[in-house]
Amino acid sequence: MVEEVIAAPAKPVHAAGRGLTGASTPRRLTEIEGDADERWALSIGEFARVLGGGIVPGSIVLVGGDPGIGKSTLLLQVALEMAQTGEVLYVSGEESERQIKMRALRLLKDEKGEMPEGLLLVTETNLSAILEHIAAVKPAMVIVDSIQTTYMPELESSAGSVTQVRECASRLRELAKGSGVAIFLIGHVTKEGAIAGPRVLEHIVDTVLYLEGDRFQSYRLLRSVKNRFGATSEVGVFEMRERGMVEITNPSEAFLAERMVNAPGSAIAVTMEGTRPILVEVQGLTSPTAFGNPRRTPNGVDFNRLLLVTAVLARRLGIRLGDQDVFVNVVGGIQVEEPAADLAVAAAIASSMRDQPVKADTVLIGEVGLSGELRMVGQMPARLREAAKLGFKTAIVPKRIRKGESWPKGIEVVEARSVREALERAMVKSE
Ligand code: TYD
Ligand code: MG
Repeated sequence: MVEEVIAAPAKPVHAAGRGLTGASTPRRLTEIEGDADERWALSIGEFARVLGGGIVPGSIVLVGGDPGIGKSTLLLQVALEMAQTGEVLYVSGEESERQIKMRALRLLKDEKGEMPEGLLLVTETNLSAILEHIAAVKPAMVIVDSIQTTYMPELESSAGSVTQVRECASRLRELAKGSGVAIFLIGHVTKEGAIAGPRVLEHIVDTVLYLEGDRFQSYRLLRSVKNRFGATSEVGVFEMRERGMVEITNPSEAFLAERMVNAPGSAIAVTMEGTRPILVEVQGLTSPTAFGNPRRTPNGVDFNRLLLVTAVLARRLGIRLGDQDVFVNVVGGIQVEEPAADLAVAAAIASSMRDQPVKADTVLIGEVGLSGELRMVGQMPARLREAAKLGFKTAIVPKRIRKGESWPKGIEVVEARSVREALERAMVKSE
């Protein structure tokens, strides 16, 4: 329960006769200006892709993520780029001017770039002052870092509360819609799920992006969960380096880079992140339980799916896991939620248990059913093409019920009815 103090209405956000963009008179669509493809291009391709192809003028975008994940860094990089062609105003309520200048210098060092004239910085948390600055500067793009530190003194609640966050965002939206300036709001989400976090903003903004990743890993995923201007569940992959976020245009290669070929307990899955297939290494380790109940420890896969897979391995394939601790890890710190990775999880565990490696040039795709059967998953052609592109020779997939389109070329597709059959085909035979 959150206490919400209802202050005397300051100025109603939607006064009668005032629409989002000024006048509220019905107009014919044919008379309204606007181009479907009006976007500002960006050389940070991964960022542009997640936005749906670039920055839309007059849009308001929320970028959420855990503290320290790299939101300020990423948006400062975007600001530095956009400022080469137009004015950009960076409003910070979190860091000092000096800190931001130092970060900007660090980000530019690598490309030997010059500090762009068009980038303006102000440290301010009072919303009316921010609105005045925007009116005075008339930038093409504004970054508000963060929405939780922005406040309206006329509201009787503290900065970061539900009321403050919602009201400030609404005002900024009005400004974006009315003036055509693109506004990016940075919002912190804590693991505990702060109530006044970005969740209350999702319906106010046009686009919601989440920056996520394991704090101890350098990879970061920028995920769009809502987008009025493009596809949702699009994902951009970055790596946090010494000099800022570097885009990873071929994530599969990056995630497989450190793989130890022919080691038992490793299998390759092909997971879909939005419309994009990504190959990931799933590792499994079984070890006799020393004390108490056997443990199941997933890292990067869903706990319940791991329980299901281990149960199927034990009951349908007779693999004795009852006295074994089972660890599963997805390399690179990404989360694989979809059941399509079940088969790779099963193979990794079975491979560790039998101390027999999975063939190094083989990918495994499929959902595991409770009877030990393999079930078809979506977007199979895209997955297979990505695996072929990375040089994998064989893909073990569920048996097709409907024969329709043929499999993509360049990879041998082995159809298996059951997990047992799939594992037989996947394992390196011991002499
Ligand atoms: P930051 O962008 O401040 O995170 P957020 O705004 O989401 O809270 O990023 C903070 C972390 O990023 C910090 O731990 C240092 C690291 N970092 C780098 O590794 N390289 C860099 O070039 C920069 C600027 C930061
Ligand atoms: Mg920050």
